[in-house]
Amino acid sequence: MARLPILAGNWKMNCDHLEANYLVTSLGAALGDMNYDTAKAEAVVIPPFTDIRTVQTVIDADNLPIAYGAQDVSTQDNGAYTGDISTSMLTKLGCTYVVVGHSERREYHGESNELVGAKAKKILDAGMIPIMCCGEALEVRKEGTHVEFVLGQIDAMLAGLSAEEVAKSVIAYEPIWAIGTGETATAEDAQEVCGAIRARVGELFDAATAEAVRIQYGGSVKSSNVKEIMAQPDVDGALVGGASLKADEFAKIVTFYK
Ligand code: 13P
Repeated sequence: MARLPILAGNWKMNCDHLEANYLVTSLGAALGDMNYDTAKAEAVVIPPFTDIRTVQTVIDADNLPIAYGAQDVSTQDNGAYTGDISTSMLTKLGCTYVVVGHSERREYHGESNELVGAKAKKILDAGMIPIMCCGEALEVRKEGTHVEFVLGQIDAMLAGLSAEEVAKSVIAYEPIWAIGTGETATAEDAQEVCGAIRARVGELFDAATAEAVRIQYGGSVKSSNVKEIMAQPDVDGALVGGASLKADEFAKIVTFYK
């Protein structure tokens, strides 16, 4: 079974809902101009919570071939959790994906692998797909223990999930030193870790699960380097920050296969 490449734009804390309206409308137009083929790649946008209703409305009204999701979610169903957002709020808005464990959530909100795994389980239980992030800091890369470090994150994040759940999920390998720095990992660096993640999923579950799970690379992906990264056998997509805020640039990334 071939894995459909997934190109997801993580808008992070950018765009109010008016700017979101313009960005997703422009992205729809740019994808149309570039004859985007949904059989070749999946286009996803991950806006801030306050933009999701707007993004949903534009996508539904114009029937745009773009999936969307959220940047985080609570492990709780509802109740006294000020500032949190539940899975049912996201499913009601038509979200397909939820990013969990982004390095920025880990750094600024102290999220652990165990919490990220619990969030992933909650997302799957709600019928959505988690995009589970992992990746090492520069010091770990310099020590040369990055593969071991990332596989430790994978073991802990996937501990509570079944093979069927992992097979449906997306894992994003984002080396922290390559995020927003303009310093992209080489295609070989991306392949080394994405390949190791797939092999570990095979060990933890089975060959069919390893074959099915989609693994993205993230960190300074742009239209000028996406082709080379996507050519790697174990890289099934990209999680894109800065370059996803420009409609034409992100449309070029989504249509990397051309
Ligand atoms: P940049 O593409 O801006 O480096 O961000 C990557 C990222 O963190 C996506 O989640």
